[in-house]
Parts: sequence; structure tokens; C-alpha cells
Amino acid sequence: MQCSTLSVVCVAALVVSLAQLGAGGAVLVVFPVPSRSHTLLGDHLVTTLLHAGHNVTYVTTFTRVKASDRFTLIDIGSAADDEEESSGTLRLEPSSSRLPSHQFLADGTSIAEGALRHRRVQALLKDVTQSFDLVVAEWYYSGLLAPLAAVFECPLVWYSAGDASWLSVQLVHEPSSATYFVDPMSTSLPRLPPGVPDRLRRLARQAYLSAWVYYMTHYVETPAYYEIYQLAIQLRGRTPPLYEALLYDGALLLVNSHPALGQGVPLPNNAKYIGGHHLTATNTTLPKNLQTLLDNAKHGVIYFNLGGTVSEELPLEVKRELMRVFRQLEQLVVWRHRGASGLQHAPGNVHLVERAPHLALLKHPNTIMMITHGGFLSYMEAMYYGVPIIGMPVQEDQLLTIDIAASRGRAIKVHLSHAGIGYKLNEAIFEILGNYSYRSNAKEASALLRDRLVPASQELLYWVELAMRTGGAPALRSPALQLSTMERYHLDVAAVLLMLAWFLSKVAKVIKVYWDDFGTDTQYFEDKKNE
Ligand SMILES: *[C@@H]1O[C@H](CO)[C@@H](O)[C@H](O)[C@H]1NC(C)=O
Ligand SMILES: *[C@@H]1O[C@H](CO)[C@@H](O)[C@H](O)[C@H]1NC(C)=O
Ligand SMILES: *[C@@H]1O[C@H](CO)[C@@H](O)[C@H](O)[C@H]1NC(C)=O
Repeated sequence: MQCSTLSVVCVAALVVSLAQLGAGGAVLVVFPVPSRSHTLLGDHLVTTLLHAGHNVTYVTTFTRVKASDRFTLIDIGSAADDEEESSGTLRLEPSSSRLPSHQFLADGTSIAEGALRHRRVQALLKDVTQSFDLVVAEWYYSGLLAPLAAVFECPLVWYSAGDASWLSVQLVHEPSSATYFVDPMSTSLPRLPPGVPDRLRRLARQAYLSAWVYYMTHYVETPAYYEIYQLAIQLRGRTPPLYEALLYDGALLLVNSHPALGQGVPLPNNAKYIGGHHLTATNTTLPKNLQTLLDNAKHGVIYFNLGGTVSEELPLEVKRELMRVFRQLEQLVVWRHRGASGLQHAPGNVHLVERAPHLALLKHPNTIMMITHGGFLSYMEAMYYGVPIIGMPVQEDQLLTIDIAASRGRAIKVHLSHAGIGYKLNEAIFEILGNYSYRSNAKEASALLRDRLVPASQELLYWVELAMRTGGAPALRSPALQLSTMERYHLDVAAVLLMLAWFLSKVAKVIKVYWDDFGTDTQYFEDKKNE
């Protein structure tokens, strides 16, 4: 009797613990950047969480995730939203400003603010019956999404779509060194060993941008924080904490990169590289017509995609020049271009596609190179399939990405300018065709990206669930978060040492005076004695 009661209790306990293990949590995922290269990553994250049994509420501008009973979509995109972003006005010549641009910080804040002020998000914030176990927010040069976790009293996980940098790492640790790592908006990699002027320039840049981050945090985001969140927090019977306390309260930072791809910034325990998590699950079947076309391309395929709407915005003379280059090639050129404006006389080996099945094209064994704008995601995808690239960067972060790729022998940079673009592109294409080292370096990167302990998507899920299970992974928190700037850079210690040095110099002076006096005094007595 006793035994059977016991076993009933045991079974009940087991069922309860199994139910707890199996029960999914409720996760709020926010990807506010209106660009398919960002929402594509959000989509994959959401799908991974749904498959693992969690309920997901997804705030985004565009998604392909199918509706289901455990999935709630909060669509903040405009009705006209298509799958690709516009790159703004295309600027072919580099800007002449000497000061680093801080525009991306303002852009980041306005994107986050726009999402948070959307009436559907405001409705979510004011709905006191809503609760979440975790918030996963995309970090895009702004911390304004951090207080979401405070509203729902749950942990926060940051997700960065690009490589790690001091700007993102400082949210969960401290800024990484400017001596050998640059921010994503610098136009080139540091050359090693760095000379004094070079390091001075980089330190000045970090100080300048840090000052802007400070300004944005205190004078732009803090007022916005109170406007956006105060009511939501008060409705839940609490007073809003200080914005800065929430900003640095993220449990984890997930970085969509890999040390073999980016700058290889060393990460603290609460930041993880999960780059390529979207690559294994994506459908890489080519549509039939493209499959046949690529299968028959005996001399190889050059995949040309400048991302966004850059191809369409190219000046007519640049398009003609590109066409002249492609006409002379034996290879098939697959060009992602909407409509045929300016390309009516495309040669027979140029195939225009409106929508490029990106990964499927890169995966095809006949694809031998990709000509790209150098978005970090495109670079990652090309490397995953071992395809070398020709980079034609148009924005700052792309300049850096292509510089990294070129420095590792995986890419050639061609400036997208009016003058001599055809000649320079032609030269780069023949360099990659003729010199196998680019392809072999890309294949080496591919091997590194695929050689993992567990698939990246599994790792992503593990860290997200860990944050949820442990109430914010407190064991992984960085002690550096408790330091002030003064303590972090030993400014107070330097001040003490300076004071000590000053004091010792004074003491030395006093001793010298006495010593001199003593010397002259003895001289006086000796003189006396001799008299
Ligand atoms: C997840 O969603 C299902 C269906 O809507 C619901 O029954 C369940 O209680 C939800 N779980 C959590 C943890 O919110
Ligand atoms: C993958 O994509 C191809 C072509 O776009 C399509 O025909 C196929 O049905 C897709 N497969 C899956 C499993 O979605
Ligand atoms: C091939 O390219 C690599 C990297 O740029 C270079 O070091 C090497 O000398 C090149 N080889 C030839 C034969 O040009």
C-alpha cells in the first residue's frame, strides 16, 4: 500500500517535471530593421523557437513565418513593404568628410523608436494581461528596445545581425580595444603592427563615437524611454527604473558572425557567436529553369547581386560598361535586377532574375564567384558555400566587410565608381578566374564555418533557452558592467600615480635643498678649521 502510494507520488512528480521540461516559454522577438537581410534572420530565430515548442510573439516589418496557434505576428511594416529595402540614394563617390559619421547611431535610434511607437506595439505594451518569459531584441546601434524586458519583468537577449564590435559588446561587458578592433563603420581594417598615428586616430574615433553614444543615450533615448515605456510600467504597478540601468541589463548577446569571418573580437562569457544559424534550414532548391541554366553553364556561373535596389539605381553608363565586360566572358552571369530598364540589350550570357534564390545559387557547384555589395550576410553566405567574391561596397559597413574578406584572400575590392569601372571589374574577374588561391581560401573558410561542435541553430536555441531557464543567466554576467569609466580605464589610479609623482618630486627638491645646505655648511666648518 505504502509502496504504491509512493510510486503514484513518484509518477506524479515525474509527470510534473516532464511537463515543466517540455513546456515552452512565451518569447517576444523584436526585429525592427526594415530590411530583408535582417528579418530573414529573425524569421529563422522565430521558426527555431516555434519548433522547440515555445510560443512566439514576433514584432517585425516583414515575415514569411506561417501563422499558427503558438505564433502571434505584430506587423509594423508599411502596406507597401516588399522583400527588399531601398538603399536610399546611391552615392558612387566616397564622402569627403574627415570626421567619422555618427549617422548610423541616429538611424538606429529612429528605427527602434519607430517600432516602439507603432500603435500595435503600444497596444501590446499597455496590455497588462500580456506576459513573456524572455525578450529577444535585435540590436541595431540603439539600446531603446532594452526596457521591453523591464515592462514584462523577464530577461533580455540581444541579437546582433552583424559582426561583433565594441559598440555591441559594451552592452554586456565593456568596449573591446580600439587598438586592434574597429567599429563596423570604419572604412578599413587596422594594419598590424599599428603605428602611433594610426592608434591615435583609432582611439580618437572611438572617443568621438563614444561621446555620440553618450549623447544619444542621455539626451535622445532617455526622454524617448519615458514617453514610450513610462505608462506601460506604471500600469503594471511599478515605477520606471533609470534607462541606463536597463540598457546594460541584457543577459546575453548573440552575434550572427564567426571568428573566421569577421574581426574575431574575443567575446565575454555572456556573448556568443551563432553565425550561420539560418543556413542549414533554408530551402536551397533552385527553380527548374535556373537549375537547367546553371547545370549547363560549362564555364561556370558568376552571380551578380548588389543587394537592395543598388543594381536598379546604377547610372545608365555604368550599366552599359558592366554589360560590355560581361559580353566578353564565357561564363553565365546571373544578375539580380528588377525589370530590364537600361538592360534591353543584355548579351546572351547574362540572365536577369527578379528574385534570386540566393543560397541555392551559391550552393550550385558551377557557381565560381559572386559580385556583391558586401553586406555581411552575403559575405557569410558566399563563404559558407566556398564562393570567392568581388566586392563593390557602397556603404561604410560594406567597405569594412570587403576589406576583411580581401585581407584574407577571399575577395577583391572594386570601387563602384564611374571612372574605369569596366576595366577594374574585368581585371578582378580574370584575377579570380586565373588565380585559384581565392577559391581555395573561400573553401577553407567554408570548412571552418561547417566544422562545429553542434549546428549553429542548435547553439542559438541553447543560449536562448538557457537565458529563459536561469532567469537571465546571472552566472555569465560580466563583472566589468559594475565598473565606471574611470575605474575601467584606471583614470583614478593614473591620477593617484601622477599625484604621487608630483609629491615625490617635491620631496626630492626639499631633500636636494637640505643636501646642498649640509654640503656648504660642512664646507664652512672645514674652511674655518683650515684657517
Ligand atoms: C502557448 O500557446 C498555447 C496556445 O495558444 C496556449 O495554450 C499556452 O498556454 C501558451 N503557453 C504559454 C507558456 O504562454
Ligand atoms: C523549395 O524551393 C523550390 C523552388 O523555389 C520549390 O519548388 C520547393 O517546393 C521548395 N521546397 C520546400 C520544401 O519548401
Ligand atoms: C594569387 O593571389 C594571391 C593572393 O592575392 C597572391 O598572393 C599570389 O601571388 C597570386 N598568385 C599568382 C600566380 O598570381
